[in-house]
Amino acid sequence: MGSLSKGESVLVTGGAGFIGTHTVLQLLREGFRVSIVDNLDNSVEEAVDRVRALAGPDLSKNLHFHLIDLRNKEALEKIFSQTRFDAVIHFAGLKAVGESVAKPLMYYNNNLISTINLYELMGKYGCKKMVFSSSATVYGQPEKIPCVEDFELEAMNPYGRTKLFLEEIARDVHKADPDWRIILLRYFNPVGAHESGQIGEDPKGIPNNLMPYIQQVAVGRLCELNVYGHDYPTKDGSAVRDYIHVMDLADGHIAALRKLFSTENIGCVAYNLGTGYGTSVLEMVAAFEKASGKKIPIKLCPRRPGDATAVYASTEKAQKELGWRAKYGIEEMCRDQWNWASKYPYGYQRRP
Ligand code: NAD
Ligand code: UD1
Repeated sequence: MGSLSKGESVLVTGGAGFIGTHTVLQLLREGFRVSIVDNLDNSVEEAVDRVRALAGPDLSKNLHFHLIDLRNKEALEKIFSQTRFDAVIHFAGLKAVGESVAKPLMYYNNNLISTINLYELMGKYGCKKMVFSSSATVYGQPEKIPCVEDFELEAMNPYGRTKLFLEEIARDVHKADPDWRIILLRYFNPVGAHESGQIGEDPKGIPNNLMPYIQQVAVGRLCELNVYGHDYPTKDGSAVRDYIHVMDLADGHIAALRKLFSTENIGCVAYNLGTGYGTSVLEMVAAFEKASGKKIPIKLCPRRPGDATAVYASTEKAQKELGWRAKYGIEEMCRDQWNWASKYPYGYQRRP
């Protein structure tokens, strides 16, 4: 991908988080100026410092970090009044499914109010280009696979409902004012890390998601992986997902920006970001064992409530309209995840 930026200025909310850090690095490398807004609720400033170090002294001059909660509209408005943004990439949000079931109001409060504030200020300051982090969760339990963007949408839990509502809000914002250009990116299962091993996913507490869990077993922080479900109608009985390398995802955001900057009247449009390939839990474990040389002990357990049998993306629309496709396979995802895990087994924290 050649450099596309003319030095445009992009506000990246949640830019200190897992997908945010990887995307910010790619944005800087493409010549964008980046302002991160993050409240560090699920991240640390050290992650932003690592991005600066990876970008180098010249490019990191184009990176600014603001410790702000998006629900604090006054503080957010100050940023908008000081900098003219050409586009916003909106990653910020809470994302743990189980927690959202236990604390639905916290999820609605954080994810909805943050986004409404953002749209209001973007409108007020004349920045009407938005890339929004949606999720494959909006396909619910898909009746058919691969998932195609025009499938009916369904939410399975409060987290998923925030994504569904925010997609609907985006469509309404555009309907009311067609000057808006909004791209909704539906991520499948982001995994892996930057090839340097300096940045990666660092969940707080016991991970809910498969790859961070496997990673913590590999470094000895957890003793075995519970494999949820071994009687699914799949090749080996375990559930199938579409895992995507976080660097491919980061590049998907650059492609989305390119589209926003180059297409008049794009409207409000959704794209899947996945590889189009399904991998089972047991295949993922085997690939990680191969990449790390570590044995991952497993325990076969009953299915996790609410889990779908097999989910993977149709990648045609993103390929055709964004000119983007994933480059990396499972082997590279596991290689880079292990590189990060072996360098920083406790993530950004010091070993306790
Ligand atoms: P993450 O938790 O690592 O990053 C989100 C960032 O947003 C964090 O740094 C957090 O501190 C910040 N944040 C949360 N609420 C905020 C607020 N009110 N104000 C300011 N900052 C706030 O998560 P991630 O994995 O990087 O995910 C980014 C986005 O992508 C999220 O919206 C998530 O729902 C979505 N998504 C993630 C996945 C995944 O598996 N990682 C899959 C699909 C969609
Ligand atoms: C999860 C979220 C979903 C989000 C998606 C994006 C849930 C219920 N859903 O989906 O909202 O959009 O991440 O990344 O959390 N598994 C195990 N053992 C574990 C952990 C997971 O066997 O310890 C299995 C799961 O049963 C599943 C697969 O691994 O079959 C992937 O799980 P996970 O990483 O949690 O992702 P999803 O369930 O696809």
